[in-house]
Amino acid sequence: MDTYLAVASKRDWRSYADRPVPPEVERRILDAGRVSGSAMNRQPWVFVVVESPEAKERVAQTVYAQDNVRSAGLVIAIATPGGGSTLDVTAWNDGVASCPNGMPESDAAARALGLEEGLLPVSIPSFGYPKRPLDPESKGAEEWSREANRKPLDELVRRI
Ligand SMILES: Cc1cc2nc3c(=O)[nH]c(=O)nc-3n(C[C@H](O)[C@H](O)[C@H](O)COP(=O)(O)O)c2cc1C
Repeated sequence: MDTYLAVASKRDWRSYADRPVPPEVERRILDAGRVSGSAMNRQPWVFVVVESPEAKERVAQTVYAQDNVRSAGLVIAIATPGGGSTLDVTAWNDGVASCPNGMPESDAAARALGLEEGLLPVSIPSFGYPKRPLDPESKGAEEWSREANRKPLDELVRRI
């Protein structure tokens, strides 16, 4: 998929099909995080793949939108003192939808994830194939962009 189309058509998705995310897709999603840039290339993050049903339920109970995690085919917590990653657009390239999940108390989520002192989850994105099939190639990137529920660029861009 064209990169701009992947970004423009990507919506955060909360309704996942009951279908596992294959290991090779999971590996690509994780690798997208691995190759993300970071300040001074410190790569301060840890990616926690939440695999067991018990851990999934434990983690679900720590986020705002618990069903996002419960119904996901794949859950990966990103723990870092700061910084970002490109996991979600890479997943979308493989037809896997996703949604970032925030949490009211990151300490409780850290405990549920078994993280050591000093690491806190910044997001626990849920991944899965969309319940309702969605074809990003059905429209052009410009159309996806126009239809997105977003502020216009005029409101967002400043030049100095
Ligand atoms: C930092 C961040 C935290 C978010 N936290 C949650 C969350 O806790 N639960 C949730 O359902 N969606 C969460 N979202 C998804 C937003 O609601 C979503 O990006 C926004 O509504 C746009 O949705 P769309 O891409 O479907 O248009 C979060 C998004 C971001 C970027």
